[in-house]
Amino acid sequence: MKHVYHPPKNGSTKTLLLLHGTGGNEEDLLPLAEMIDPDAGILGVRGNVDENGMNRFFRRLREGVFDEEDLIFRTEELKQFVDQTAEEKGFDRSRVTAVGYSNGANIAASLLYHYDQPLDQAYLFHPMVPRRDIERPDMTGIPVFIGAGSNDPICPPEETEELERHLRESGASTELYWAQMGHQLTRDEVDAARTFYDKQKGE
Ligand code: MLT
Repeated sequence: MKHVYHPPKNGSTKTLLLLHGTGGNEEDLLPLAEMIDPDAGILGVRGNVDENGMNRFFRRLREGVFDEEDLIFRTEELKQFVDQTAEEKGFDRSRVTAVGYSNGANIAASLLYHYDQPLDQAYLFHPMVPRRDIERPDMTGIPVFIGAGSNDPICPPEETEELERHLRESGASTELYWAQMGHQLTRDEVDAARTFYDKQKGE
């Protein structure tokens, strides 16, 4: 997969896996990584799906309706890419935190729904429920931050709450931050994510 990689600095052993929204690329969330943890390594990935010239991590049938078969295939593809890149670059695979926005948050959530302990932590900005009616793995010990907009036309509040409930029922420790905004990422939600991230230090 196309990507950008920066090794961790100043003794950090963490890596942030950056997953862009529809139409983005591997560099989009670099400023966000800098705000959350400037010392962490960075693995920014570009989604392999092309939707009319826009990069995505998996196909959709229409807005908000996922192509489940492709979602499952692409989730595995991303997991294998991260596993393999950790070996090649020599970063600690067990300390990979996903930071995803919109479509990128959805594939990060899909990693959690399909694999056992695939991430150290997850920061999901404006995510949706990736799948329903499947048995989810045990997520005990995984901190998950969700940033949502109370007027988000793409992800209604009930869906955000359903996602949080799924994650919590599977054992993840969640924090849900509401911005009085739509689908866009806000500075306040990134600050709240940073506060949540700092709380996990040493754990
Ligand atoms: C998706 O397709 O993943 C969601 O609708 C969010 C987006 O528009 O990227």
